[in-house]
Amino acid sequence: MKALIFLTVWSLAFLEKTLYNQFLTGILEGADLISKLDAENCLYSRTLVTQDKKFSIDWNNLIQDLTEMSIYCKFQEALKPLKNLKTSENMMARTYKRFEEAKAKNQFPVSSNITNFGKSLGSWLSQYIRMASPYAFKFSYNPSDVSIYIKAAKAPLPIAYFHGINGACKDESYKEWENYLRKQLGVYIRCIEIGDGASSSIFMSMTDQTNEACTKIKADYHYKGKFNLIGISQGGIIARGVLQKCAGLKVNNLITIGSPNMGINKFPNCEVGIKCYLYNKAAILGAYSAAFQALGPGGYFKDQYQYETYLKESSFLADLNNERKIKKEYTDLYLALGYFVQIYFSKDATVIPKESEIFGYFAIDSEIMQPYNETLNYVNNYLGAKTMDSQGKIVRTTIDSEHCNMTHEEVNKYLIPYLL
Ligand SMILES: *[C@@H]1O[C@H](CO)[C@@H](O)[C@H](O)[C@H]1NC(C)=O
Ligand SMILES: *[C@@H]1O[C@H](CO)[C@@H](O)[C@H](O)[C@H]1NC(C)=O
Ligand SMILES: *[C@@H]1O[C@H](CO)[C@@H](O)[C@H](O)[C@H]1NC(C)=O
Repeated sequence: MKALIFLTVWSLAFLEKTLYNQFLTGILEGADLISKLDAENCLYSRTLVTQDKKFSIDWNNLIQDLTEMSIYCKFQEALKPLKNLKTSENMMARTYKRFEEAKAKNQFPVSSNITNFGKSLGSWLSQYIRMASPYAFKFSYNPSDVSIYIKAAKAPLPIAYFHGINGACKDESYKEWENYLRKQLGVYIRCIEIGDGASSSIFMSMTDQTNEACTKIKADYHYKGKFNLIGISQGGIIARGVLQKCAGLKVNNLITIGSPNMGINKFPNCEVGIKCYLYNKAAILGAYSAAFQALGPGGYFKDQYQYETYLKESSFLADLNNERKIKKEYTDLYLALGYFVQIYFSKDATVIPKESEIFGYFAIDSEIMQPYNETLNYVNNYLGAKTMDSQGKIVRTTIDSEHCNMTHEEVNKYLIPYLL
Protein backbone atom coordinates (compact mmCIF):
# COMPACT_ATOMS: atom_id res chain seq x y z
CA MET A 1 0.00 0.00 0.00
CA LYS A 2 2.73 2.36 0.99
CA ALA A 3 4.68 1.52 -2.15
CA LEU A 4 1.62 2.14 -4.29
CA ILE A 5 1.01 5.62 -2.89
CA PHE A 6 4.66 6.36 -3.34
CA LEU A 7 4.66 5.23 -6.94
CA THR A 8 1.63 7.29 -7.71
CA VAL A 9 3.02 10.41 -6.16
CA TRP A 10 6.40 9.90 -7.71
CA SER A 11 5.14 9.44 -11.24
CA LEU A 12 2.87 12.43 -10.78
CA ALA A 13 5.97 14.37 -10.08
CA PHE A 14 7.19 13.69 -13.55
CA LEU A 15 3.92 14.27 -15.29
CA GLU A 16 3.66 17.94 -14.91
CA LYS A 17 6.40 20.48 -14.79
CA THR A 18 4.72 22.65 -12.18
CA LEU A 19 4.44 19.67 -9.96
CA TYR A 20 8.01 18.72 -10.58
CA ASN A 21 9.05 22.25 -9.83
CA GLN A 22 7.12 22.18 -6.57
CA PHE A 23 8.66 18.86 -5.84
CA LEU A 24 12.21 20.16 -6.23
CA THR A 25 11.36 23.24 -4.22
CA GLY A 26 10.06 20.96 -1.53
CA ILE A 27 13.30 19.00 -1.52
CA LEU A 28 15.38 22.12 -1.16
CA GLU A 29 13.15 23.45 1.57
CA GLY A 30 13.11 20.14 3.31
CA ALA A 31 16.86 20.04 3.19
CA ASP A 32 16.79 23.44 4.89
CA LEU A 33 18.80 24.88 2.08
CA ILE A 34 16.62 27.72 1.05
CA SER A 35 14.58 30.19 2.96
CA LYS A 36 10.83 30.47 2.55
CA LEU A 37 11.24 33.86 0.93
CA ASP A 38 13.62 32.50 -1.69
CA ALA A 39 11.20 29.71 -2.46
CA GLU A 40 8.32 32.08 -3.04
CA ASN A 41 10.35 34.25 -5.34
CA CYS A 42 11.51 31.47 -7.56
CA LEU A 43 9.73 31.26 -10.86
CA TYR A 44 11.81 28.46 -12.19
CA SER A 45 10.32 25.89 -14.44
CA ARG A 46 11.95 23.37 -16.66
CA THR A 47 11.15 20.91 -19.37
CA LEU A 48 10.91 17.52 -17.91
CA VAL A 49 13.18 14.72 -18.79
CA THR A 50 10.72 11.98 -19.50
CA GLN A 51 11.14 9.17 -17.08
CA ASP A 52 10.26 5.55 -17.36
CA LYS A 53 6.73 4.73 -16.38
CA LYS A 54 8.52 2.39 -14.03
CA PHE A 55 9.52 3.77 -10.69
CA SER A 56 12.99 5.13 -10.83
CA ILE A 57 15.06 7.84 -9.23
CA ASP A 58 18.16 8.93 -10.98
CA TRP A 59 20.46 10.31 -8.38
CA ASN A 60 22.68 12.23 -10.74
CA ASN A 61 19.75 13.80 -12.52
CA LEU A 62 18.20 14.77 -9.25
CA ILE A 63 21.37 16.50 -8.10
CA GLN A 64 21.71 18.10 -11.53
CA ASP A 65 18.13 19.35 -11.38
CA LEU A 66 18.56 20.70 -7.90
CA THR A 67 21.73 22.46 -8.95
CA GLU A 68 20.18 23.99 -12.06
CA MET A 69 17.17 25.09 -10.13
CA SER A 70 19.33 26.61 -7.44
CA ILE A 71 21.36 28.52 -10.00
CA TYR A 72 18.27 29.76 -11.72
CA CYS A 73 16.61 30.75 -8.47
CA LYS A 74 19.79 32.08 -6.89
CA PHE A 75 19.46 29.75 -3.95
CA GLN A 76 22.98 30.51 -2.82
CA GLU A 77 22.72 28.46 0.31
CA ALA A 78 21.68 25.44 -1.64
CA LEU A 79 24.38 25.82 -4.22
CA LYS A 80 27.33 25.51 -1.93
CA PRO A 81 26.58 22.10 -0.44
CA LEU A 82 25.32 20.79 -3.76
CA LYS A 83 28.58 21.84 -5.35
CA ASN A 84 30.55 20.24 -2.55
CA LEU A 85 28.53 17.11 -2.98
CA LYS A 86 29.19 17.00 -6.69
CA THR A 87 32.90 17.64 -6.40
CA SER A 88 33.58 15.10 -3.71
CA GLU A 89 33.65 11.61 -5.10
CA ASN A 90 33.71 10.17 -1.66
CA MET A 91 30.66 12.03 -0.47
CA MET A 92 28.82 11.51 -3.69
CA ALA A 93 29.48 7.80 -3.72
CA ARG A 94 28.39 7.26 -0.19
CA THR A 95 25.33 9.42 -0.35
CA TYR A 96 24.37 7.76 -3.58
CA LYS A 97 24.80 4.35 -2.02
CA ARG A 98 22.55 5.20 0.89
CA PHE A 99 20.04 6.73 -1.46
CA GLU A 100 19.96 3.53 -3.51
CA GLU A 101 19.65 1.40 -0.39
CA ALA A 102 16.73 3.42 0.86
CA LYS A 103 15.12 3.33 -2.55
CA ALA A 104 15.41 -0.45 -2.60
CA LYS A 105 13.85 -0.66 0.82
CA ASN A 106 11.17 1.87 -0.05
CA GLN A 107 12.14 4.04 2.85
CA PHE A 108 11.17 7.38 1.45
CA PRO A 109 8.52 9.11 3.45
CA VAL A 110 5.14 9.43 1.81
CA SER A 111 2.90 12.44 1.67
CA SER A 112 -0.12 13.22 -0.44
CA ASN A 113 0.96 16.81 -1.08
CA ILE A 114 3.64 17.19 -3.68
CA THR A 115 5.47 20.09 -2.00
CA ASN A 116 5.27 18.30 1.31
CA PHE A 117 6.38 15.11 -0.31
CA GLY A 118 9.41 16.87 -1.72
CA LYS A 119 9.99 18.34 1.72
CA SER A 120 9.93 14.93 3.39
CA LEU A 121 12.30 13.60 0.80
CA GLY A 122 14.43 16.72 1.24
CA SER A 123 14.78 16.31 4.97
CA TRP A 124 15.53 12.66 4.45
CA LEU A 125 18.09 13.59 1.82
CA SER A 126 19.69 16.19 4.04
CA GLN A 127 20.16 13.58 6.76
CA TYR A 128 21.91 11.35 4.27
CA ILE A 129 24.00 14.09 2.76
CA ARG A 130 25.10 14.92 6.28
CA MET A 131 25.82 11.29 6.96
CA ALA A 132 28.00 11.17 3.90
CA SER A 133 29.79 14.19 5.20
CA PRO A 134 28.83 15.74 8.49
CA TYR A 135 30.59 18.85 7.39
CA ALA A 136 28.86 19.05 4.05
CA PHE A 137 27.12 22.21 5.15
CA LYS A 138 29.73 23.56 7.43
CA PHE A 139 32.44 22.89 4.95
CA SER A 140 30.92 25.18 2.42
CA TYR A 141 31.46 28.10 4.76
CA ASN A 142 35.05 27.23 5.47
CA PRO A 143 36.54 25.53 2.44
CA SER A 144 40.08 26.05 3.67
CA ASP A 145 39.61 23.62 6.51
CA VAL A 146 40.37 20.58 4.43
CA SER A 147 41.55 18.49 7.36
CA ILE A 148 38.13 18.51 9.00
CA TYR A 149 36.58 17.66 5.73
CA ILE A 150 38.81 14.71 5.05
CA LYS A 151 38.44 13.37 8.54
CA ALA A 152 34.69 13.75 8.48
CA ALA A 153 34.39 12.14 5.11
CA LYS A 154 35.64 8.87 6.53
CA ALA A 155 32.68 7.44 8.37
CA PRO A 156 30.78 9.01 11.21
CA LEU A 157 29.17 6.15 13.11
CA PRO A 158 25.70 6.05 14.61
CA ILE A 159 25.47 6.96 18.28
CA ALA A 160 23.45 5.36 21.06
CA TYR A 161 23.28 7.14 24.39
CA PHE A 162 21.73 6.81 27.83
CA HIS A 163 20.52 9.64 30.02
CA GLY A 164 21.09 10.08 33.73
CA ILE A 165 19.01 9.26 36.78
CA ASN A 166 15.64 10.91 37.26
CA GLY A 167 15.70 12.10 33.66
CA ALA A 168 14.06 11.05 30.43
CA CYS A 169 14.97 11.15 26.75
CA LYS A 170 12.26 13.71 26.19
CA ASP A 171 13.82 16.20 28.65
CA GLU A 172 14.70 19.51 27.07
CA SER A 173 18.34 19.34 28.13
CA TYR A 174 18.90 15.95 26.50
CA LYS A 175 17.03 16.98 23.38
CA GLU A 176 19.16 20.10 23.05
CA TRP A 177 22.38 18.14 23.51
CA GLU A 178 21.28 15.43 21.13
CA ASN A 179 20.17 17.88 18.45
CA TYR A 180 23.44 19.70 18.73
CA LEU A 181 25.41 16.51 18.10
CA ARG A 182 23.08 15.51 15.28
CA LYS A 183 23.58 18.84 13.62
CA GLN A 184 27.32 18.88 14.10
CA LEU A 185 27.91 15.31 13.02
CA GLY A 186 24.93 14.52 10.86
CA VAL A 187 24.80 11.05 12.29
CA TYR A 188 22.04 8.84 13.54
CA ILE A 189 21.86 9.51 17.26
CA ARG A 190 19.28 8.05 19.57
CA CYS A 191 18.61 8.35 23.26
CA ILE A 192 17.72 4.83 24.31
CA GLU A 193 14.89 5.08 26.79
CA ILE A 194 14.55 2.49 29.52
CA GLY A 195 11.09 1.86 30.87
CA ASP A 196 9.23 5.11 31.34
CA GLY A 197 12.34 7.27 31.79
CA ALA A 198 12.66 9.06 35.11
CA SER A 199 11.05 6.64 37.52
CA SER A 200 12.45 3.54 35.82
CA SER A 201 15.93 5.05 36.12
CA ILE A 202 15.44 4.98 39.88
CA PHE A 203 13.31 1.94 40.53
CA MET A 204 14.57 -0.57 37.99
CA SER A 205 17.66 -2.52 38.96
CA MET A 206 20.79 -1.87 36.91
CA THR A 207 20.58 -5.43 35.63
CA ASP A 208 17.06 -4.91 34.32
CA GLN A 209 17.96 -1.53 32.87
CA THR A 210 20.94 -3.03 31.07
CA ASN A 211 18.89 -5.93 29.74
CA GLU A 212 16.29 -3.61 28.34
CA ALA A 213 19.00 -1.40 26.84
CA CYS A 214 20.52 -4.44 25.18
CA THR A 215 17.21 -5.54 23.66
CA LYS A 216 16.50 -2.06 22.33
CA ILE A 217 19.92 -1.61 20.79
CA LYS A 218 19.74 -4.99 19.13
CA ALA A 219 16.35 -4.17 17.68
CA ASP A 220 17.65 -1.03 15.96
CA TYR A 221 19.26 -1.81 12.62
CA HIS A 222 21.48 1.28 12.84
CA TYR A 223 23.46 -0.53 15.49
CA LYS A 224 24.10 -3.68 13.48
CA GLY A 225 27.53 -2.45 12.52
CA LYS A 226 29.99 -0.37 14.51
CA PHE A 227 28.59 2.44 16.61
CA ASN A 228 29.61 4.81 19.38
CA LEU A 229 28.18 4.41 22.84
CA ILE A 230 27.72 7.30 25.28
CA GLY A 231 26.45 7.29 28.84
CA ILE A 232 25.60 10.42 30.76
CA SER A 233 25.93 10.12 34.53
CA GLN A 234 24.16 6.91 35.60
CA GLY A 235 23.71 6.22 31.90
CA GLY A 236 27.45 5.52 31.79
CA ILE A 237 26.91 2.50 34.01
CA ILE A 238 24.23 1.28 31.63
CA ALA A 239 26.48 1.95 28.64
CA ARG A 240 29.24 -0.07 30.25
CA GLY A 241 26.75 -2.78 31.14
CA VAL A 242 25.74 -2.92 27.50
CA LEU A 243 29.35 -3.09 26.34
CA GLN A 244 30.13 -5.92 28.73
CA LYS A 245 26.94 -7.94 28.85
CA CYS A 246 25.19 -7.48 25.52
CA ALA A 247 26.96 -10.02 23.37
CA GLY A 248 27.63 -9.41 19.72
CA LEU A 249 27.63 -5.62 19.58
CA LYS A 250 30.37 -3.74 17.76
CA VAL A 251 31.09 -0.81 20.02
CA ASN A 252 33.64 1.56 18.53
CA ASN A 253 34.26 4.23 21.18
CA LEU A 254 32.80 4.34 24.66
CA ILE A 255 32.27 7.70 26.33
CA THR A 256 31.12 8.18 29.90
CA ILE A 257 30.19 11.68 30.97
CA GLY A 258 30.18 12.30 34.72
CA SER A 259 29.51 8.63 35.43
CA PRO A 260 29.94 6.90 38.79
CA ASN A 261 32.28 4.34 37.26
CA MET A 262 33.82 3.22 40.52
CA GLY A 263 30.62 3.66 42.47
CA ILE A 264 29.25 6.21 44.92
CA ASN A 265 29.33 6.04 48.68
CA LYS A 266 26.99 8.89 49.55
CA PHE A 267 23.98 10.76 48.37
CA PRO A 268 24.43 14.49 48.59
CA ASN A 269 22.91 16.37 51.50
CA CYS A 270 19.34 16.99 50.78
CA GLU A 271 16.03 18.36 51.90
CA VAL A 272 13.63 16.80 49.44
CA GLY A 273 13.65 14.84 46.21
CA ILE A 274 15.13 11.70 44.79
CA LYS A 275 18.51 12.04 46.52
CA CYS A 276 16.82 12.14 49.92
CA TYR A 277 14.59 9.29 49.03
CA LEU A 278 17.60 7.14 48.19
CA TYR A 279 19.52 8.37 51.17
CA ASN A 280 16.70 7.42 53.51
CA LYS A 281 16.13 4.07 51.84
CA ALA A 282 19.81 3.21 52.12
CA ALA A 283 19.79 4.21 55.76
CA ILE A 284 16.64 2.29 56.62
CA LEU A 285 17.06 -0.82 54.50
CA GLY A 286 20.83 -1.04 54.58
CA ALA A 287 22.86 -0.31 51.45
CA TYR A 288 23.51 -4.01 50.84
CA SER A 289 19.99 -5.23 51.49
CA ALA A 290 18.45 -6.93 48.49
CA ALA A 291 15.75 -4.23 48.44
CA PHE A 292 18.22 -1.37 48.12
CA GLN A 293 20.40 -3.24 45.66
CA ALA A 294 17.32 -3.65 43.47
CA LEU A 295 17.07 0.12 43.00
CA GLY A 296 19.01 1.67 40.11
CA PRO A 297 21.62 3.49 42.24
CA GLY A 298 21.83 0.57 44.66
CA GLY A 299 23.62 -1.27 41.88
CA TYR A 300 26.62 1.04 42.08
CA PHE A 301 26.70 1.87 45.76
CA LYS A 302 30.16 1.10 47.06
CA ASP A 303 30.91 1.55 50.73
CA GLN A 304 34.67 1.29 51.15
CA TYR A 305 34.12 0.43 54.83
CA GLN A 306 32.08 -2.63 53.84
CA TYR A 307 34.22 -3.84 50.98
CA GLU A 308 33.72 -7.55 51.67
CA THR A 309 29.95 -7.11 51.91
CA TYR A 310 30.03 -5.04 48.72
CA LEU A 311 31.96 -7.76 46.91
CA LYS A 312 29.42 -10.34 48.00
CA GLU A 313 26.16 -8.42 47.77
CA SER A 314 26.60 -5.78 45.09
CA SER A 315 23.91 -6.42 42.50
CA PHE A 316 25.86 -4.86 39.64
CA LEU A 317 29.06 -2.88 40.07
CA ALA A 318 31.31 -5.51 41.64
CA ASP A 319 30.70 -7.73 38.63
CA LEU A 320 30.86 -4.85 36.15
CA ASN A 321 34.22 -3.74 37.48
CA ASN A 322 35.48 -7.32 37.46
CA GLU A 323 36.22 -7.22 41.17
CA ARG A 324 35.15 -10.79 41.82
CA LYS A 325 36.47 -13.64 39.74
CA ILE A 326 37.96 -11.96 36.71
CA LYS A 327 35.94 -12.47 33.57
CA LYS A 328 38.35 -12.29 30.70
CA GLU A 329 35.57 -11.52 28.25
CA TYR A 330 34.95 -8.21 30.05
CA THR A 331 38.59 -7.22 29.76
CA ASP A 332 38.70 -8.25 26.12
CA LEU A 333 35.71 -6.07 25.31
CA TYR A 334 37.50 -2.99 26.65
CA LEU A 335 40.64 -3.89 24.78
CA ALA A 336 38.63 -4.10 21.58
CA LEU A 337 37.44 -0.48 21.92
CA GLY A 338 38.92 2.31 19.87
CA TYR A 339 38.84 4.81 22.73
CA PHE A 340 37.37 4.91 26.19
CA VAL A 341 36.73 8.58 26.95
CA GLN A 342 36.00 9.45 30.58
CA ILE A 343 34.74 12.93 31.30
CA TYR A 344 35.16 14.23 34.81
CA PHE A 345 33.61 17.38 36.30
CA SER A 346 35.87 19.02 38.84
CA LYS A 347 33.01 20.82 40.61
CA ASP A 348 30.69 17.85 40.64
CA ALA A 349 28.59 17.62 43.79
CA THR A 350 26.21 14.96 42.49
CA VAL A 351 28.50 11.99 42.08
CA ILE A 352 30.25 11.38 45.39
CA PRO A 353 33.13 10.92 45.17
CA LYS A 354 33.47 12.75 41.86
CA GLU A 355 36.82 11.06 41.18
CA SER A 356 34.78 7.92 40.50
CA GLU A 357 34.11 9.44 37.08
CA ILE A 358 37.71 8.77 36.10
CA PHE A 359 37.99 5.54 38.07
CA GLY A 360 39.49 6.96 41.24
CA TYR A 361 38.05 5.82 44.55
CA PHE A 362 38.58 5.65 48.29
CA ALA A 363 41.08 3.10 49.47
CA ILE A 364 39.50 0.24 51.39
CA ASP A 365 38.56 1.23 54.98
CA SER A 366 39.88 4.71 54.43
CA GLU A 367 39.06 8.27 53.45
CA ILE A 368 42.12 8.44 51.26
CA MET A 369 41.29 9.06 47.65
CA GLN A 370 43.29 6.85 45.36
CA PRO A 371 43.86 8.11 41.83
CA TYR A 372 42.76 5.67 39.15
CA ASN A 373 46.24 4.27 38.71
CA GLU A 374 46.58 3.23 42.34
CA THR A 375 43.32 1.34 42.72
CA LEU A 376 43.24 -2.46 42.91
CA ASN A 377 41.17 -2.30 39.80
CA TYR A 378 43.95 -0.65 37.83
CA VAL A 379 46.94 -2.32 39.41
CA ASN A 380 45.40 -5.74 38.75
CA ASN A 381 44.20 -4.65 35.31
CA TYR A 382 40.68 -5.94 36.02
CA LEU A 383 39.21 -4.18 33.00
CA GLY A 384 42.39 -3.87 30.98
CA ALA A 385 42.83 -0.16 31.73
CA LYS A 386 46.55 -0.52 32.29
CA THR A 387 46.93 -2.16 28.90
CA MET A 388 44.66 0.42 27.27
CA ASP A 389 46.76 3.20 28.76
CA SER A 390 49.88 1.69 27.27
CA GLN A 391 48.07 1.87 23.92
CA GLY A 392 46.87 5.43 24.46
CA LYS A 393 43.24 4.32 24.33
CA ILE A 394 41.96 5.96 27.49
CA VAL A 395 41.21 9.65 27.41
CA ARG A 396 40.58 11.26 30.80
CA THR A 397 39.15 14.73 30.46
CA THR A 398 38.57 17.26 33.20
CA ILE A 399 35.89 19.87 32.75
CA ASP A 400 35.88 22.65 35.27
CA SER A 401 32.18 22.81 36.10
CA GLU A 402 29.28 21.13 37.84
CA HIS A 403 27.82 17.74 37.09
CA CYS A 404 27.50 17.16 33.36
CA ASN A 405 27.49 20.86 32.53
CA MET A 406 29.26 21.16 29.17
CA THR A 407 29.29 24.09 26.80
CA HIS A 408 29.06 23.58 23.06
CA GLU A 409 32.74 24.51 22.82
CA GLU A 410 33.56 21.72 25.26
CA VAL A 411 31.43 19.30 23.30
CA ASN A 412 33.30 20.29 20.15
CA LYS A 413 36.64 19.92 21.80
CA TYR A 414 36.21 16.83 23.95
CA LEU A 415 33.46 14.76 22.35
CA ILE A 416 33.30 15.41 18.62
CA PRO A 417 36.84 14.21 17.86
CA TYR A 418 35.86 10.78 19.21
CA LEU A 419 32.64 10.65 17.25
CA LEU A 420 33.99 11.31 13.78
C1 LIG B 1 0.76 21.55 0.09
O1 LIG B 1 1.50 22.01 1.22
C2 LIG B 1 1.96 23.35 1.10
C3 LIG B 1 2.85 23.63 2.29
O2 LIG B 1 2.41 23.02 3.45
C4 LIG B 1 0.77 24.29 1.00
O3 LIG B 1 1.23 25.62 0.86
C5 LIG B 1 -0.07 23.89 -0.20
O4 LIG B 1 -1.22 24.68 -0.25
C6 LIG B 1 -0.47 22.41 -0.12
N1 LIG B 1 -1.12 22.03 -1.36
C7 LIG B 1 -2.24 21.32 -1.39
C8 LIG B 1 -2.78 20.99 -2.74
O5 LIG B 1 -2.79 20.94 -0.38
C1 LIG C 1 49.50 7.95 38.46
O1 LIG C 1 49.41 8.90 37.42
C2 LIG C 1 49.94 10.16 37.74
C3 LIG C 1 49.72 11.09 36.58
O2 LIG C 1 48.49 10.87 35.98
C4 LIG C 1 51.42 10.02 38.06
O3 LIG C 1 51.92 11.27 38.42
C5 LIG C 1 51.60 9.01 39.15
O4 LIG C 1 52.98 8.79 39.34
C6 LIG C 1 50.94 7.70 38.80
N1 LIG C 1 51.02 6.79 39.94
C7 LIG C 1 51.42 5.55 39.80
C8 LIG C 1 51.43 4.72 41.04
O5 LIG C 1 51.78 5.09 38.73
C1 LIG D 1 26.69 25.57 33.56
O1 LIG D 1 27.87 26.33 33.72
C2 LIG D 1 27.78 27.66 33.30
C3 LIG D 1 29.14 28.29 33.46
O2 LIG D 1 30.10 27.54 32.83
C4 LIG D 1 26.71 28.39 34.10
O3 LIG D 1 26.57 29.71 33.64
C5 LIG D 1 25.39 27.65 34.01
O4 LIG D 1 24.43 28.24 34.84
C6 LIG D 1 25.57 26.19 34.36
N1 LIG D 1 24.32 25.49 34.08
C7 LIG D 1 23.75 24.70 34.98
C8 LIG D 1 22.48 24.05 34.54
O5 LIG D 1 24.23 24.50 36.07
